[in-house]
Amino acid sequence: VRENITLKVVVVGNSSVGKTSILYRYTQGGIFHTEIDSTIGIDYRERSLKLQNKTFQLQIWDTAGQERFKTITRSYYRNSDGIIVVYDVSSRDSFIKVREWVESVTESAPENVVMLLIGNKIDLTNKRCVTLEEGQDLAKKLGIKFIETSAKTGVNIEMGFEFLVKTINNQ
Ligand code: GTP
Repeated sequence: VRENITLKVVVVGNSSVGKTSILYRYTQGGIFHTEIDSTIGIDYRERSLKLQNKTFQLQIWDTAGQERFKTITRSYYRNSDGIIVVYDVSSRDSFIKVREWVESVTESAPENVVMLLIGNKIDLTNKRCVTLEEGQDLAKKLGIKFIETSAKTGVNIEMGFEFLVKTINNQ
């Protein structure tokens, strides 16, 4: 009999870094939209994943990046198993804000929460202004995991979630 494990995951980061797009890719079979509404408050998505002879039911909360929703977002950290902090590799500002996102997670989330930093939009090679090394260095400093993705091409999206779930499961 397979073990069935429910995991709660919250996705945070500045507005328009691609949180909703990453989750569309991951939970709705690979659709990418260029026109997409900014998230208001919180959205909920699900996906199940078989790994290491277990079935994981992921309950994923897609949060709004806009400043005015910060208090709501914070209240979802409390029961989480994993938190994904997303920035956009073509936005220096979104990268600078990563530290603040991680600090606010650390204040409210359980102590053993697993954090994954995602640098998204790596398909925008000409607009990239945050290097892979900068992302890796920051994640190392903050003591969290790291991966770069593109919600547009789908690169590393599956792998990112697998990486997160494996880390939660093995800790
Ligand atoms: P909020 O809901 O406001 O917090 O934004 P969000 O982080 O959920 O961003 P969203 O997914 O709404 O994407 C914002 C814009 O970036 C949209 O126009 C997307 O099509 C675009 N986008 C998202 N991911 C990628 C990507 O990997 N590559 C490219 N080129 N564009 C992307």
